[in-house]
Amino acid sequence: MINNFSNIKACVFDAYGTLFDVHSAAAQHSHKLGKLEQSVSEMWRSKQLQYTWLRSLMNAYDEFWTITGDALDYALASHGVEDDELRKNMMNAYLQLSCFEEVPRVLKALKDSGMKTAILSNGSPNMLDPVVANSGVASCIDACISVDEVKIFKPAAIVYQLACDRLGVSANEVSFQSSNCWDAIGAAHFGFQVVWCNRYGQQLDRLPARPQAEVKDLDALPPLVGVA
Ligand code: LAC
Repeated sequence: MINNFSNIKACVFDAYGTLFDVHSAAAQHSHKLGKLEQSVSEMWRSKQLQYTWLRSLMNAYDEFWTITGDALDYALASHGVEDDELRKNMMNAYLQLSCFEEVPRVLKALKDSGMKTAILSNGSPNMLDPVVANSGVASCIDACISVDEVKIFKPAAIVYQLACDRLGVSANEVSFQSSNCWDAIGAAHFGFQVVWCNRYGQQLDRLPARPQAEVKDLDALPPLVGVA
């Protein structure tokens, strides 16, 4: 499903799962987690997201760093793992996530063409800044925008509005990229032109909007938004 985008002035990216591989945190500790690695990592991510939605509904915001720690505690306890050192190291690994292989060249192509680029993430600034710096893509990103400014998580519309306000563009001039289908749909519902980067071959969520394009990785983005 690909429909060409029109009149795009800014490319805005989700961070975790889209630019940065969240599962690389557990992978760094596979020697300790052994055969539990994948299950712990998937539960960690799943609980992390659930807690953002639940806290938004409860009007009980706390920063993503805290929520990421709570979710890790749940995942480790669920697998019978009690290891404070491992917990600390896995949290630190979240500050040094690998970016997906194509990300540096895609961001560079967009930047070289004069396109505005930004990250719009649930991540708190103290998490996003190190991961962006460590991945070496900082020079290709104009703005790193955190939900922490509005103290509610995606997919609240007020979060997507932050990108318009910061970049000085209207919603329909933004191409928003997320690998998280619910985030892609939230952004489409808000009014962005949206690319769902379906890295894991998942089903489309049945929610009241649709991404405009579905791709397997971000290499497909530059031509979609008119960058050769
Ligand atoms: C983010 C999460 C949703 O970066 O992946 O906002």
